[in-house]
Amino acid sequence: MRVLLYTGKGGVGKTSVSAATALKAAELGYRTLVMSTDPAHSLSDSFAQPIGSEPTPLAPNLWGMEIDPFREIENNWSTVKDYLVTLFASQGIKDIVAEELSILPGMDELFSLLKIRQFYEQGAYDVIIVDCAPTGATLRLLHFPEMISWYMRRFFPVQRKIVTTIRRFREEIFSVPLPTDEVYETMERLYKRIGEMKAILVDPDITSIRLVLNPEKMVLEETRRAFTYLNLFGFVCDAVIVNKVLPEEVTDRYFAEWKALQRRYLEEVQASFGDLALLTVRFYDREVVGLDALRQMANDLYGDRNPTELFAKSKPIRIVKRGKDYWMELHLPFVSKGDIQLHRKGDELIVRVGTLKRHLVLPHILAKQEPKGAKLDRGVLAIRFSPTEEDEQRNA
Ligand SMILES: Nc1ncnc2c1ncn2[C@@H]1O[C@H](COP(=O)(O)OP(=O)(O)OP(=O)(O)O)[C@@H](O)[C@H]1O
Ligand SMILES: [Mg+2]
Repeated sequence: MRVLLYTGKGGVGKTSVSAATALKAAELGYRTLVMSTDPAHSLSDSFAQPIGSEPTPLAPNLWGMEIDPFREIENNWSTVKDYLVTLFASQGIKDIVAEELSILPGMDELFSLLKIRQFYEQGAYDVIIVDCAPTGATLRLLHFPEMISWYMRRFFPVQRKIVTTIRRFREEIFSVPLPTDEVYETMERLYKRIGEMKAILVDPDITSIRLVLNPEKMVLEETRRAFTYLNLFGFVCDAVIVNKVLPEEVTDRYFAEWKALQRRYLEEVQASFGDLALLTVRFYDREVVGLDALRQMANDLYGDRNPTELFAKSKPIRIVKRGKDYWMELHLPFVSKGDIQLHRKGDELIVRVGTLKRHLVLPHILAKQEPKGAKLDRGVLAIRFSPTEEDEQRNA
C-alpha cells in the first residue's frame, strides 16, 4: 500500500492536487481513497460532489472522505477528556473552559491521521491520499507522536502503579481526582496506535510526503522551513509541486513582472529541495473543479508518470551533536569537490559547493549557532556549528 501526503502553505492548491492525484491513481486501476484531515474541508468542492465522513464513492476505484474531527476526538479521547474535565473542575475551572482545555491543539488532526493506520491494517485500499492542513499544523502534528511517547514513557507507567496504590488507601486526602484504570488504558491504546501510525508515515516504502507550493517568496520560505523539519523528524519527501505557474502564452504586460518573479523563484525552488522530483502545473484560466478539470491537472502534473511511485530516494538531512558542536549532514551525491562557501542570514543558510547552491532553513537549535566550516566526504557535506561567543560567555 502507498500513502501520499500533500502539504503546503494555505491556499497553494493542496486539495486540488490531492484530488487530481487521487483521480489519476484510480484511473490507473488502484483502489484509491482520498481523505482530508484539514477540519476546513474542501475536497467535496474540488470534486463538486458531496463527500461524507465515511468513504464515499466518487468514481470507479475512487472513494473520498472528509473526516469528522469531533467524532474522532469522541472515539479516541472521550474517557481521558472526561477525566481532565473533572480534574480542571476540581481546580475551579468552569465547565466550558475545562472542556476546551481538555482537547490539545492539533488533536483533531492527529486522530484523523490515525484513520490511516486503521485503513492500512484493513488493507482495503492500494493508495491513500491525504489532503493535509496547512504546513504549520501538519508539522506540529507529525512530531506529536514523539511528544506523546516521551510523556507516556516518562510519566505514565510509573504513575499508574503509584496511583493504583494510593487509591487503594485514601483517595480523599488528595484534592484532585485520580485517573481511573480506564483513563490509563485509553492513553496506552492511543500511544500504541500513534506509534503504529508513525511507523507507517516514516517508512519510505509506504509513505511519501509531497510539498505543494506557488512560486512566491513567502510560500517558498514556509515550504523550506517545513522541509527542514520534516527531514529532522525522519519523514521522507519525494517531490515538490510548483502550482499556479503563469504559462508562456500569458503575454499581457500586466503580468510581465509576475512572470519574471516566478522564473526567479522556480530557480530557487531547484536550489532548495535537493534531489526531490520537481513537478509544475500552470495557472489555469479557471478554478480546478470537477472530474474533467482534475483529470487535466493530473495529466499536466504527472504526464506518463505513475503518481503512486516513489519519485526520489532522498536521504534526509541529519543533525548530530559531538561535544559542544553540532554537525549538519546533507547528501550531495553529485558533488565530489569544489570550494565550499557558507553564508548565514538569520535562520537561513546558503551553501555553495563549486557551482551547486543549496538554500536551507536552519532548525531552532542551529539558528543561534555559527557555521564554523564544512567538509565534503563521499557525497556527504558535513557543516560544523558551534555556539556563538556570546552564548559561550553567558553559559560560562
Ligand atoms: N493551477 C491552478 N490554476 C487555477 N486555479 C487553481 C489552481 N490550483 C488551485 N486552484 C484554485 O485555487 C483555489 C485554492 O486551491 P485549493 O483549495 O486546492 O488550495 P489548498 O492549498 O487546499 O487551500 P487551503 O489551504 O485553504 O486548504 C481553489 O479555488 C482552486 O480551484
Ligand atoms: Mg485545502
